[in-house]
Amino acid sequence: MRVTGTGHASMRIDTAAGSILCDPWVNPAYFASWFPFPDNSLLDWETLGDVDYLYVSHLHRDHFDAAHLKRFVSKKATVLLPAFPTSEMEDELRELGFTKFLKAPNEEVVELDGGLKVMIQALTSPTDGPIGDSSLWVEHDGVRLLNQNDARPTDLSTFAELGHVHAHMLQFSGAIWYPMVYELPQAAKTAFGKQKRDRQFDRTWRYIDDLKADHVFPIAGPPCFLDDELWQLNDIHGDEGNIFPDQSVFQREYAKVGGTNGVVLLPGSVAELTTGACETSHPVPVKEFFANKAVHLAEMRDRKRGVIEAEKASWRHPEIDVLKEMKRRIEPLLEESIYLAKGVGGPVRFDLVGYDGESVESIVVDFPGKQVRSYADEKVRYRFRTERALVEHLLHTGEVDWVNSLFLSCRFSAARIGQYNEFVYAFFKCLSEERLQYAEGWYDEHERTSDAEDITLGDWVVQRRCPHLKADLTRFGIVEGDQLTCQLHGWRFDLASGRCLTSVGHKIRARRADAQAPAGEILG
Ligand code: FES
Repeated sequence: MRVTGTGHASMRIDTAAGSILCDPWVNPAYFASWFPFPDNSLLDWETLGDVDYLYVSHLHRDHFDAAHLKRFVSKKATVLLPAFPTSEMEDELRELGFTKFLKAPNEEVVELDGGLKVMIQALTSPTDGPIGDSSLWVEHDGVRLLNQNDARPTDLSTFAELGHVHAHMLQFSGAIWYPMVYELPQAAKTAFGKQKRDRQFDRTWRYIDDLKADHVFPIAGPPCFLDDELWQLNDIHGDEGNIFPDQSVFQREYAKVGGTNGVVLLPGSVAELTTGACETSHPVPVKEFFANKAVHLAEMRDRKRGVIEAEKASWRHPEIDVLKEMKRRIEPLLEESIYLAKGVGGPVRFDLVGYDGESVESIVVDFPGKQVRSYADEKVRYRFRTERALVEHLLHTGEVDWVNSLFLSCRFSAARIGQYNEFVYAFFKCLSEERLQYAEGWYDEHERTSDAEDITLGDWVVQRRCPHLKADLTRFGIVEGDQLTCQLHGWRFDLASGRCLTSVGHKIRARRADAQAPAGEILG
């Protein structure tokens, strides 16, 4: 099996029974904020795109690059489609000209021509990617590969059960706006960023340890930020709170926990995988490349300046009355929303900065009042500040997912009173009837399903499944004193009260191990 690195989370897998191109991403994403690094735009995409199968893990725009798919990927390719709850990915791919789809039943091995086997695990909670993320398992001629990319399954047993895995590709770096956009003192941001960076690595080690593959490939990031306004987000300034460590940092950190089997692929690197070995060749020496990262980034910034400027020029739509249009788009959804609206629980304020960089229009999405209106000098718990032009563009294009467009762009600042509230983001990810209904149904189902199984962790008996996204706490739960941390996303719980310390709601069931034990047991 041959794996060619094609940048970020993208790779081409070649076997004697056919080739699979995964997640090809080249054009900037999220308001021209994210670019793949190292630059992959000069690869021979005509040849790389001439494949038998296409796999796109999810609709995040650093995985689903519509312009690139349209231009470079053969429409004769069969799309390996994850079993997502909505048909958005298939619809978008059909629009780009793809006609052959293999809808992979969730977690079932499918045998393709020539003995090539694939299995896709689709994750479908409203907080997984833009409603849906997935991983691809591939086997040919005894060689097995798991392309986990940035999916976060609760565990990897589904894949491990299919036999020893030789190559494990997974995310290790950040892909979010936290904590950089928060209006906090720099020292607090650095401290939060450092915690986040550590948690990302801890999660990665856990997954690696779960699967125990022969070779581990750090992929799916980090992106690079080439706009001058975002340049400080690149991990080249010695900021220990930067959440975007690169592959060379991965190798260094991995070595500290005893990891010796990390393999870094640059765009154009080739790994020849067998059941006993992994031989790699690179277009340029990997260590040297990352040692000169700042220089490569600066050169890339010069090359891409025109692309960024062209994108920026397309964002303004002064003809749009933002308040009126937000009302028209969002109020019917507020009306239908039960769980998400209740979860948000208060008004969310958007401060929109005009083209002059100074004037500000404040709009409130009032969840309890079920309306969108002008800000009325009230107290709000959540506030976002961004350029009006960006919201005009979202409204102009009918974007249904403001999280995976505006928020991932990092072109905003945010303030909140109290904890992170996942419902705010779940709602702004679901600005369509189809998505909202799905998310509401999902929460409805999960509210009703109480998880009855308990486990003992240290001095505590706690429910087995994490109240966030049901991670198995026998594997992900760490108890220190009276606090439990679930390492999957790092959420913390106060065990004495059950209160979630990370996000609103999400109470955990917990009691001291000796508190309710039958009297006979204690005495006997
Ligand atoms: S499943 Fe997300 S923190 Fe536990």
